[in-house]
Formats: sequence, structure tokens, C-alpha cells
Amino acid sequence: MRVGVLTGGGDCPGLNAVIRAVVRKGVTQHGFDFVGYRDGWKGPLEGLTRPLGIEECRGILPRGGTILGSSRTNPFSIEGGVEQITANLAADGVDALVAIGGEDTLGVATRLADLGVRVVGVPKTIDNDLSGTDFTFGFDTAVNIATEAIDRLHTTAESHHRVLVVEVMGRHAGWIALHAGIAGGASTVLIPEQPFDIEKVCAHVETRFESEYAPIIVVSEGATPIDGGDMTLASGEKDAFGHVRLGGIGDRLANEIEQRTGKEARAVVLGHIQRGGTPTAFDRWLATRFGLQAADAVAEGDFGTMMALRGTDIVRVPLIEGTGELKVVSAEEYAEAQVFFG
Ligand code: F6P
Repeated sequence: MRVGVLTGGGDCPGLNAVIRAVVRKGVTQHGFDFVGYRDGWKGPLEGLTRPLGIEECRGILPRGGTILGSSRTNPFSIEGGVEQITANLAADGVDALVAIGGEDTLGVATRLADLGVRVVGVPKTIDNDLSGTDFTFGFDTAVNIATEAIDRLHTTAESHHRVLVVEVMGRHAGWIALHAGIAGGASTVLIPEQPFDIEKVCAHVETRFESEYAPIIVVSEGATPIDGGDMTLASGEKDAFGHVRLGGIGDRLANEIEQRTGKEARAVVLGHIQRGGTPTAFDRWLATRFGLQAADAVAEGDFGTMMALRGTDIVRVPLIEGTGELKVVSAEEYAEAQVFFG
């Protein structure tokens, strides 16, 4: 069997570990041969391929990014895009696809599977917002990077008696902010799921300064104030899946806090640092196990499924379970962190 592999959406530490595992198991145990599609769905759409075998995967386990490249191409927003993909798969002699991606890339996989394309999905996103799986790979790495940043910011914030606002990724879900905020001892965590009250945030800033410590506020890029005011930020620019580019909440929040409390406040935006570099051991382990399972799913003809972590087991769930609804932070989970606010 000839199997195509692609990685789509925002890159994520662990993508290469999945590719390596799919290929290793696919070749050695199932006798597959592989073709790498470049740059997400752009690859099968435009017929952009590269060789992919055991040799091409040597040394890539600890490397961030993806050897296949990525993009946010949406074939459903391109006239004739789906027909072009099926024609290219046929021309390349590809019998099945392994799509590694988040809500958008696997959303396309879900729709293609409904149209009869033989595809299995592997859930990837640093945001950890895919349903059906306890964790996505990349999340642990992002949380560790953000936690290390928070640890470092504590000491400089204390030395200068400043407020430091740390903006982390998370468009719709505050998982990175919540986990890194708890792990890093933040004095406030603000997430997209729970609009924040700027007055309460400022009150927490004041109480934190009553101790010898300085406030560290962790904010998801998608967090908004309760009055929906002008701190909601978007560049206006949209990608092929209709998402606006976020960014700027950290700065705006820092300005607002400084004006209201008179305390000096600065913002740090972690941005793509959270997505770059080597994956943690946990993410390598998870990505590798997803890849092994994906190779088996293809061998068994179990198409239209997504690999998922349930407890310590890797299971397969229908793709729609992963992509139908985003997994967001519940009010109860957020309440746990609130014990430490202020
Ligand atoms: O979807 C993952 C993610 O990291 C989001 O948290 C963030 O909003 C987005 O990607 C940023 O994407 P890009 O790299 O295209 O700006």
C-alpha cells in the first residue's frame, strides 16, 4: 500500500516524531511505501511531494517543526479543490492518507473522509483544544516553555516592583495559560472561556504588591474583558479557515493596569517561541505512540478515525469526535486556579 503523509496548520513540537513512527511501523511491519506531501493540504492539492522513507526520518525525533512543511490551506475554500486532491492522490498512486493536524486540518480530513477519501488523523496542537483525546502532543512542550518564562519573570518583576503580563497562545481555549499559570505560580490567569473584569485584575495586582512579591499575570491571546471593550484585538487579517490573527492583549492589559493602579506594568509576548524547538519527552512519547497507532489504523482499513489518548491508552475515535466541538476549559477547572489569584 502507498501512504501519503501531511502536516497542516500551525507547526508543533512532535510532528517529526509522528512522521518517523508512522513510517517506521508502516515500512517494517506493514510493508507500506510512503510519499510525503508538502505544506499541509497544499501538497495533495498542488501535487507537491517529497520522498519519505526510513532514511528520510533518521535524526528527526528531537527536532521541532516538520520536515514536510505546513500551511493553513483549506481545499474546501478553493473552487474544485477537493476534485484536485482526489485526482492528485490517484495520480501519485496513494491509497491512504495520514493527516496530522489540529481542528482545521482534521476538519478537512473529516469532510474528505465523508466523501470517501481513505484518511486517518493524528491530533496536533499546542492549544490542546481538540476533543476526543486527553492531550494533543505539543501542548506539554508549550506549557514547559511558558512555565520557564514565568519562573524567570518572577525574579525580574520582584526586583523592579513591576507587574509583568505574559501573553501566551490560545485562540479559543486557555489550556496553555491555565497549566503554565498554575505551574508557574501566576497571580492571575485570564483565559478566552471566562471574560475578565479589569477591576478585579487590578485588585489582585494591589493585593499581590502587599506581599514582597510582584504580580505575574498570564493571559491567553484570545482573552477578552467582560464589557467586550476595546481590549479585544485582532489585526483584521483572516486565514483560509476564517480565523483572525490575534495578539496584543498583553500590551493593552499592561497599559490599562498601569493607568488604573499607578504601578509600572510591562508585557511579554511569548508567541511562536512556544511552538519552536525540541519537544519534551512526554510529547515525543505521545507523538510516537500516535504515529504507531496511525500506521495500524491504515493497515486495518480503519479510515475516518483519529488517534486519541485516553488515560494511558492510545485509542481510535471517529474524526468528528475530535473536530466537531472544541475542548475548552470548564468553569470548575478555572475555579481551581482562582484559589491562587491575588
Ligand atoms: O492553533 C495553534 C496556534 O498556535 C494558536 O494558538 C495561535 O492563535 C495560532 O496557532 C497562531 O498561528 P500562526 O502561526 O499562523 O500565526
